[in-house]
Amino acid sequence: MAEIVLELDDIQSGLLRPRPSPYAAAYVLFRIDDRNAGRELMRRLRLVVPSAGQSVRSHGDTWVSVALSYQGLKALGVPQASLESFSLEFQQGMAARAKSLGDRGESGPENWEKPLGSADVHVVITALAPSAEALEAAFATARKSYQELKGVTAIWRQDCHVLPGEREAFGFKDGISHPAIEGSGIPGTNPHEHPLKPGEFVLGYPDEMSEAPQTPKPDILGRNGSYVVFRKLHQRVAEFRRYLEANANGLEQAEFLAAKMMGRWRSGAPLALCPMRDDPVLGSDAARNNAFLFKEDDAIGYKTPAGSHIRRMNPRDSTVAGVARIHRMIRRGTSYGPLLPVGVLEDDGLDRGLMFAFVGAHLVRQFEFVQSEWMNDSAFFGGSVGRDPVSGAADGSGTFDIPKRPLRQRLQGLPRFVITRGGEYCFIPGLRALEWLGNLTT
Ligand code: HEM
Repeated sequence: MAEIVLELDDIQSGLLRPRPSPYAAAYVLFRIDDRNAGRELMRRLRLVVPSAGQSVRSHGDTWVSVALSYQGLKALGVPQASLESFSLEFQQGMAARAKSLGDRGESGPENWEKPLGSADVHVVITALAPSAEALEAAFATARKSYQELKGVTAIWRQDCHVLPGEREAFGFKDGISHPAIEGSGIPGTNPHEHPLKPGEFVLGYPDEMSEAPQTPKPDILGRNGSYVVFRKLHQRVAEFRRYLEANANGLEQAEFLAAKMMGRWRSGAPLALCPMRDDPVLGSDAARNNAFLFKEDDAIGYKTPAGSHIRRMNPRDSTVAGVARIHRMIRRGTSYGPLLPVGVLEDDGLDRGLMFAFVGAHLVRQFEFVQSEWMNDSAFFGGSVGRDPVSGAADGSGTFDIPKRPLRQRLQGLPRFVITRGGEYCFIPGLRALEWLGNLTT
């Protein structure tokens, strides 16, 4: 069958293209109080949002994406029949889905940072630039543009920035594994992964399960869009370090445990390819650091434990209940907050973590499934009591198994290292859809 070709010129760059690096980024949330002002904002954004068909540089130094919550589409006056054609979970919003996401206690919506999870979050603009100065300069211009729009208010901002070595706050290199998408022209990072049907990530195209999956109506609004999930995830770095220290005999063993929990050494080198010690050259070699599968030479998980973060989040060809390919996602995480200096084991009270971003055409079978079944349950690979040892909704009683001969090692009493501070389910429209939203007359 002929390969499907994506309409790259109509798809937002931020949906498909990996972000440039180094970067400084900001998430800015807006509330729309006046639909006409909101529509004007859409028209202005249409002029500055690059398409996936353009090179990043062709749009200057700043790279802008725009997404809307269900409440945002409502505030713009999108007709009811169209609103109802979006997925039910999107209509409900992230806070209403807390139970299935494991957001309870400290991570519960009642404790989220305001206004996250409220009906005030309408528009999410993400801006990326090569440095904090370039980002500020771009914002200074953009600010003028939205401040004069009475009826649209910026209500929250989160600044993010790349940490040295593109690592996240726990110290692991991030942003390595990305799926291959048929017809996108953008290569995936694992040469052993057969490209996924584009409808897994972009609405309006065949996906892995159907030739004509449901898309929001009218077609001009739904086509070339996708769903985006933003989550502000606070990371308890001091607690993570203390846990490693308490469960290891010396620094070297602590690094070994950290790698077993993640499935990669801190450099990004995968245990699948170098199980005994870190290999920083491999870690930074994009041609090799994601080129592996699990089943043939590591079915049991002697190298990469089945319960480790990366093997849970993408079991690749491992034997699991269900089909791994229908639960893939594009990730666009950016770090926020200062690094906790090396060796510090006491919490300094500062907020640091990951602005996690998911992109995919199926909120339930991709994001919610991975979050609830693979992250917070272990039945899918035959495990007993474990949650994801890095980002799971642990309650202090969980365990993590490291398969070993003759006897496995079992870590006990895993605390929760990642706290949800809030987030939202959004829709990232295509560029023609952005124009359509700007020209609504209801
Ligand atoms: C603060 C929380 C988190 C941290 C620190 C974290 C960290 C990491 C790191 C270091 C990697 C390996 C590098 C890479 O492949 O890019 C990774 C991979 C991944 N993570 Fe996370 N992550 C977090 C939360 C999440 C969440 C909430 C999800 C999804 C619900 C997720 C899904 C994935 C996926 C799909 C991969 C790629 C797996 C693969 O293909 O090998 N992560 N994460």
